[in-house]
Amino acid sequence: MGEPGIKVLERRLADLRRELSVDVVIAQLENLSDGKGVRHADFDRVRAAGVDFGTGGNWSLHLPESAPLLSDPAVPLIRPANYPEGTPGLPYKYLETAQGNVLIVSLMGQIVGKDADKPVDNPLRIIDRILEEQSSVQKAAVVVNLHGDFSSEKLVIGHYLAGRASLVVGDHWHVPTADLQILPGGTAHQTDVGMCGALDSCLGVRFDIIEQRWRNQQPSRNELETSGRMQLNGVVVDVEDGQAVNAQAVREIIV
Ligand SMILES: [Fe+2]
Repeated sequence: MGEPGIKVLERRLADLRRELSVDVVIAQLENLSDGKGVRHADFDRVRAAGVDFGTGGNWSLHLPESAPLLSDPAVPLIRPANYPEGTPGLPYKYLETAQGNVLIVSLMGQIVGKDADKPVDNPLRIIDRILEEQSSVQKAAVVVNLHGDFSSEKLVIGHYLAGRASLVVGDHWHVPTADLQILPGGTAHQTDVGMCGALDSCLGVRFDIIEQRWRNQQPSRNELETSGRMQLNGVVVDVEDGQAVNAQAVREIIV
């Protein structure tokens, strides 16, 4: 989430990769640049910090400069797969790793906050189609994120993909849930994986702005919190033959 999230990764990710023997790091990057979209320079920074691949959500297409990145199969960044036909960007990409190809797909839930009126294709039908089309490709792992507001959708997608994906996580809340598990068939699932950024904030935004807006019912601009404690949230999954065999939630509070 914005500059604080980038700084958290720059400060901690290299050590975490080493301490946890991590092969591949996938990060939700839709909020990377000031909370909205992906600038080239910020993308370069998080890649230098140790992020191998960026997933997408409702802000993925906010900045025009992101579109060429999303459309280039060689650039490890995607937008949600279930945006309507003609939307810039590819619906999924593979990340080549020393262990084999990792198929990574982002999906939008049916209801996502203020974007609830924007049309999206049915995420279940879209992921079925992608997995069917890609069934003959040898894969070390399949990773799916469902970006949405409803806990029910983020829970259901895990069960829906049990046995067909190595990891399914929900995101967009910026608040991690305590329900990480491995579902039958070897699919690790967490309803929401949380965020990296300012801990003493409303999902990354300054509390005073949100409180005044709520209390006074007057529109105002979001400003990201840049001080105070920081947080890093994630999930680490061990995958063997495409199946999750171990899953561990990571949550650090950085003072
Ligand atoms: Fe979002």
